[in-house]
Amino acid sequence: MYMPELKGKIALVTGASRGIGKSISVALAQSGAHVILTSRNMDRLKQVEGEIRSKKGSASCMAADMSEEKQIETLFDGIRKSFDTLDILVNNAGLGIWAKLVDFRTEDLDRILTVNLRGPYLCCKQAMRIMVPANKGHIINITSVQGIRGYESQSAYAASKHGVMGFSKSLAVEAQEHNIRVSVVLPAAVDTEMIREARPDLDPAVLIRPEDIAKSVLFLLSLSDTAMVDQIYVRRMSGRPF
Ligand SMILES: NC(=O)c1ccc[n+]([C@@H]2O[C@H](COP(=O)([O-])OP(=O)(O)OC[C@H]3O[C@@H](n4cnc5c(N)ncnc54)[C@H](OP(=O)(O)O)[C@@H]3O)[C@@H](O)[C@H]2O)c1
Repeated sequence: MYMPELKGKIALVTGASRGIGKSISVALAQSGAHVILTSRNMDRLKQVEGEIRSKKGSASCMAADMSEEKQIETLFDGIRKSFDTLDILVNNAGLGIWAKLVDFRTEDLDRILTVNLRGPYLCCKQAMRIMVPANKGHIINITSVQGIRGYESQSAYAASKHGVMGFSKSLAVEAQEHNIRVSVVLPAAVDTEMIREARPDLDPAVLIRPEDIAKSVLFLLSLSDTAMVDQIYVRRMSGRPF
């Protein structure tokens, strides 16, 4: 009953090759959207595309490295050429590097900020250039509980996710007059390759499922024209409330 009807909509999901991005892509396709899958790994993207098609969904792949502005521009040029529109952008691609601030290598700080903060910023800029003239669109940025809190050995990651929260708030104000929505989803620990590396101490049985984040995205897209949810924070059931 609360599933969004996305037939005829064009959605771009970054980091679609695995984990949360893959799950969001499958869910969007099952709701009727054509999903453009992007990441650096074309082989894995093709596998996700195959999975979507086997369930009668619609998807296509375009490889891009989120740390390369030129590749982001080429990705959006391709979207303009092939589809001439973009209804939904999910900025999900990201990476984690874990070490105490005092030991953190400057090149790793640069890498994490480039992919996790500059990447979605540049994708939003490109998406707005398509969405503003169309006077419609929904941008959903996947940040993290680390966008509002800080944990040991995660200072650079937390800085990148706080940064995404910050620019999303400004962009939401700029976008509103153009009928464009900007929302953020803040997951706690989700069962993916990233968290298995970052938190090997956590029992996989207590982790959030990637499908729960996909459901949050579908919920944001299912609201009526007069309702808006700015952010969804998804915590582990076994975590601390509020
Ligand atoms: N898992 C968690 O507990 C958790 C919690 C809160 C927030 N998040 C956030 O959720 C998002 C997805 O995380 P995940 O757990 O699904 O991670 P994951 O399994 O490691 O997947 C990361 C995705 O990002 C892509 N990616 C990484 N670097 C890229 C680059 N330079 N250019 C293009 N794509 C790149 C990867 O694709 P390729 O390797 O194919 O390029 C992959 O598809 C991230 O932004 C993460 O920070 C995760």
